[in-house]
Amino acid sequence: MTESTRTSDPTPTARRTVLAAGAAALAGGTLAACGGGGGGGQSPSAESGAATPSAASSAGAPAGAAEALLKSSAVPVGGGVVLKKEKVVVTQPTAGEFRGFSAVCTHSGCLVDKVADGTIDCPCHGSRFKVTDGAVVKGPATRALPEKKITVAPDGGISLA
Ligand code: FES
Repeated sequence: MTESTRTSDPTPTARRTVLAAGAAALAGGTLAACGGGGGGGQSPSAESGAATPSAASSAGAPAGAAEALLKSSAVPVGGGVVLKKEKVVVTQPTAGEFRGFSAVCTHSGCLVDKVADGTIDCPCHGSRFKVTDGAVVKGPATRALPEKKITVAPDGGISLA
């Protein structure tokens, strides 16, 4: 019995050792995974650090875009766009030809509010001005809309000159 006990003891012990080692390996793997999670906690800070340069570069792009009032593609051929904030009308009488005018009506100072049928129209008393040169088409206004010099960048951005 003693011998059988001795012979049977080493084997289970060895198995326990192997199992214990395996458990330790699993535990180690689990710990490593947790460690990875902790490392993941560091990753966001690394990402936020990486985001700073990209935020800076993207901040540069809008700054350049902010100089343009609008894109030339936004101005219909034969029509125009009223930029109320800037008090400017940008027209495109023919394809590729852009003109800028004051959006302040020369009659009594209202802001023109639309461009339609080849004219820039004032809502207050019905004056209409040509999209080509700002000349009066219909009163009561008697003076043309003053020209505003504009430039069209190669990328299509339209800015005040
Ligand atoms: Fe424009 Fe009178 S203010 S028509």
